[in-house]
Amino acid sequence: MTAITAIDGIEQTPALVVDREAFAFNLATMAEALPGARLRPHVKAHKSTGIARAQAAQSHRTFTCATIREVEVLAEAGLGDDLLLANEVADARRLGAAADRHGARVTVAVDSEATIDAARNGGVREVLVDVNVGLPRCGCRPEDAGRLADAARAAGLEVRGVMGYEGHVVGRPDRAERTEKVAESMALLVQAAGLVGGDVISAGGTGTYDLNTWATEIQAGSYCLMDTAYGELGLPFRQALSLVATVISVSPKYAVADCGLKALGMDHGSPSMEAARVLFCSDEHVTFVPDEPVQVGDRVRVIPAHVDPTVAYHEVFQVVDAGKVTEQWPVDMRGW
Ligand SMILES: Cc1ncc(COP(=O)(O)O)c(C=O)c1O
Repeated sequence: MTAITAIDGIEQTPALVVDREAFAFNLATMAEALPGARLRPHVKAHKSTGIARAQAAQSHRTFTCATIREVEVLAEAGLGDDLLLANEVADARRLGAAADRHGARVTVAVDSEATIDAARNGGVREVLVDVNVGLPRCGCRPEDAGRLADAARAAGLEVRGVMGYEGHVVGRPDRAERTEKVAESMALLVQAAGLVGGDVISAGGTGTYDLNTWATEIQAGSYCLMDTAYGELGLPFRQALSLVATVISVSPKYAVADCGLKALGMDHGSPSMEAARVLFCSDEHVTFVPDEPVQVGDRVRVIPAHVDPTVAYHEVFQVVDAGKVTEQWPVDMRGW
């Protein structure tokens, strides 16, 4: 059936909905595979202290962040045992201040003399040398990692080890190819780790959480909510996140619901719908062909192709148990 049974407690759409049962299953499955500090959950996927607390309750007390704001909010929430900003920043003063104000342990990625200077000048005490393992993004060349570690130590910083995110590998659909490519990437990271010293090798994501056996900690984040791109990889995680939208117009050949580009991250393609074919999204609309007739006012479920940017558009998760909203988790790490 294209239309879904109304969920008690959802008034405004589009609404970001978490199926608690699927979410709990995902957390438990990951905690069994990577207990405690073997997983450093990446909060960029959910941006919510409600979810970070659930991960902490599963024994993961260390977190990966993508933005300064994520570090600040976790530290303020008392979840600052060991926070890694797995990104370079040109101005680290807010990080140093968050660490001091909340007694948090904050580590930042560095890949240049300039980012080392920024860490030191910002009052951050610990760093990881970020190594480019094949994703054309941040990270130094493996052969430069030792020199940067020396420079960081000379600047008075504690170098905990290396990080290197194999983001070009995590989404490859073929598991054998993922396995081969993660080995290639991690050979570079292990080489750099030998030059840098320290005991941390931080890497990995949802698509490689069980393939990356070189990293001492895995930075997966999407696993707890999931999206259709990761859903195609045959991972053991369930789709816990969806958007509930309302049908606002019906034409002979298609229907339209109130959930478009401004409610969905579309960089991994169009969303999917239950019992319907999505034609396209525009700013506030998804135009779709339902398998069965729908009417204005019907509720439909839209599954995002990419969890992280989708969540960042919203202010709150509606947590649903057996067709009823039982809790709300603010997306309180949004913003910069
Ligand atoms: C630095 C870093 N580590 C890890 C991840 C893994 O995230 P995911 O669980 O979505 O694969 C990401 C995702 O973008 C990332 O940027």
